[in-house]
Formats: sequence, C-alpha cells, structure tokens
Amino acid sequence: MTLALIVVAAGSGERLGSHFPKAFVEVGGQSLLEHALGPIASLPKPLELVVVAPQSWVEPAREISERALGNSVDIRVVPGGATRSESVRLGLEAIGPDVNTVLIHDAARAFAPQEVFQRVIDAVEAGAAGVIPVREVADTIVPVDDQSRTKRAVPRDELRSVQTPQGFSAAALRASYESFDGDATDDAEVLRFAGYGVISVEGHEASHKITYPSDLEAVRRRLADNPDLRVGTAVDVHQFDPEADLVVGGMHFDGPGLSGHSDGDVVIHAVTDALLVAAGLGDLGTHFGTSRPEYAAAKSEVFLKEALGLVAGAGFSPRSVSVQYLGNTPRLGEHREKMSHQLSELVGCAVHVSATTTDGLGLTGRGEGAAAIATALVEYQPGAGEASG
Ligand code: CTP
Ligand code: MG
Repeated sequence: MTLALIVVAAGSGERLGSHFPKAFVEVGGQSLLEHALGPIASLPKPLELVVVAPQSWVEPAREISERALGNSVDIRVVPGGATRSESVRLGLEAIGPDVNTVLIHDAARAFAPQEVFQRVIDAVEAGAAGVIPVREVADTIVPVDDQSRTKRAVPRDELRSVQTPQGFSAAALRASYESFDGDATDDAEVLRFAGYGVISVEGHEASHKITYPSDLEAVRRRLADNPDLRVGTAVDVHQFDPEADLVVGGMHFDGPGLSGHSDGDVVIHAVTDALLVAAGLGDLGTHFGTSRPEYAAAKSEVFLKEALGLVAGAGFSPRSVSVQYLGNTPRLGEHREKMSHQLSELVGCAVHVSATTTDGLGLTGRGEGAAAIATALVEYQPGAGEASG
C-alpha cells in the first residue's frame, strides 16, 4: 500500500477572526498545522504528505512540515484555491501515481488522534471506497425555514456528525472529483455524488473542528490543564578548602570554603545542573566544565544565568525547584528563607531550600566536604516567549 495524506490548510479562518490564516494560528506554542501533523510521523510508510496552504504561506507551511516530520516523509506543499473542494483538487494533483489510499484531513481538526487515522486506514485497506470518522449527535436537530419556523426533528439516532481524516481508494476519489465541479464541505459527499458507498468508523471528541474563537479558547484551556512537564535531578559535591571563601546558595558564610571550579557553591551548581538535565540539555559539565577556563573564577550565579538562557532558548520555563544542602557547616536554618527567596528571584520560579547533616556519616558527615541535591521541574512551552515578547 502506498499512502498519501492531503492536509487542507488553505482556508482564511474568517469565522475565527484571526489576523492570519487559521492553520497558522498558534495554541500551546505551536501552529494548528503543526499540531495537526503530530500523529503523522507514526503512520505507515511509504507516505506522501501534501500540505495545501494559502499562496503566501507555502514557505512557512513547508518549514513547519519539515520541522514536524524531518525527512521521514515525502513532503509537498502546494497553494490552495478559493474553496475547500478546490484546495482538495489541487492537493490531489500533487500526489504520485503509485498512491492507492488517500487520506484527506482538515488542519482545522488539529487534535485528531492517531487512533482515528489508523481506524480510517484499516477500513480503506479492508476494501471500502470511502471511510469517514463520525460521532453521535447529542442535540436534537430540527430544520428551520426562512421564517424561523421549525419542522419536525430529524430522528437523532440516525444522525452522526462527520469529521476528518477521511480515507479513500485513490481511484474512487480521483474518479469522483473528475465528475464533480461544485463545492462540498467534505470529500465523502463528492464520492456519494459519484455513486460510491461510504462507510463510517468511530471518530473522536478531540477531532472537533476549530471554527470559532470559543473552540480555540477550549483548546487553550485543555492544553494549559495538561502542561508538558519535565523533571531533572542533580547532585553536586565539593571538598572543604580552608583557603577558599564559603559560598552556599549565593550567600557568604564564615568558615572553610568549598574547593572546585568557580566558587564551589554546591547549591547553585546542583540547581543549575538539574535545570539543564530537565530541559534535556546535557548537564553542568557539558556547558561549564573544566575545559572552559574562562569560568574558573566565575561566580556560580553566572552559570545559573547562562543555563537559564539555554533552558529558555530550548522552549522550557522553570516551574519549581527543590534543593537540599548536605553538610555539617554552615548551619542554614536561619538563612534558609532568605536563600530561597534570592534563588527564586534568580530562577524565576519557587526555589525551596532545605538542609540536613548526615548523622556523622559519609564524606559530608565526616566534614570532608559538602553536597547538594536538587530537583527541577520545567514546562515545555515552545514559542511561549515569542508570543509574549
Ligand atoms: N480550506 C482550504 N481551502 C479553502 C477553504 C478551506 O484548504 N479555500 C481548509 C481549511 O484550511 C480547513 C478546512 O478546509 O483546514 C475546513 O475549513 P474551515 O474550517 O471552513 O476553515 P476556513 O475556511 O479557514 O474557515 P472559515 O470558513 O471560517 O473562513
Ligand atoms: Mg470555510
């Protein structure tokens, strides 16, 4: 089987009322088009993807598609037409001659899950000329005439609302579009017009079409309720060095300091490391290791600030950090709150500091050195910074 997927994204989104075409409106840091392409990476190969975009959005659509799918898929981007049917026609012209199954999907149904794609593909492969995902209708549906008079309700148990992706045998789809020159709101109707049978499979609530501002708002709320959170853990240990100044959590204390690269601040090192780990950016050594002599005498705050820049650049925002100091001295008790406050300001989220001695055991208990263990929680929000900046 050679599969082609046409994603129609050439509409203007008039009802949404956005400044640019609907498929390029961002939610949760990604355009609707990029969300719509999400499940495609796991579709069966070989796969031809045709994205139909507004004329002046062909290049952005190509960039978005390549970013979402890399080179795992053969990507073509073509300009669309004045109506949805026209855009589908132009998409159809771009698919290759070997394709035998075609899926057509609205970019506006940006959150249709992979399982629906699979159900549709399976039904086409089983021999159906046309397959549509449908949902039962919850409301009573009545016809209304131009005088606002209602007619008898249509029996609801016979009704289904229709979604995309819809799937077709390529031959039936091509033949149907050849014998049709109007505009239909979906492609199955074009097949029925040509006399083909179209069967239904179970759709999905998440495939709801984004049409009005309230649809976009609902998606925004849902994404905010399910943030993409990542966690990172790190430990830092340094030996006491009577010659060094004692710096812990950015605060200076009396007593022997901690040796090590920079000022030996185990608390800030562990926090910095945990943030980098959470964002999948390697660790402290990757960025500020001993191979970087320019950092040898730098205050640890410098590492932390640089790491925060890298974390933000990769699309992550710190959400919560916890760090525990392990050592006999200094006693952090009365300084804990101030340290937490200062670190929170630096990191841009709550940083909770705690401390423990280790009951006289281990290198920290014997007073040979001190350690800190940190956990950082970050949220992946690509594009969030650009949107607000
Ligand atoms: N579409 C298209 N070309 C058109 C019109 C629509 O490719 N000339 C696509 C849209 O981009 C969308 C899908 O068809 O993914 C369903 O259309 P709809 O939800 O009506 O989107 P818009 O036409 O953009 O919105 P509106 O009708 O509010 O302008
Ligand atoms: Mg439309």
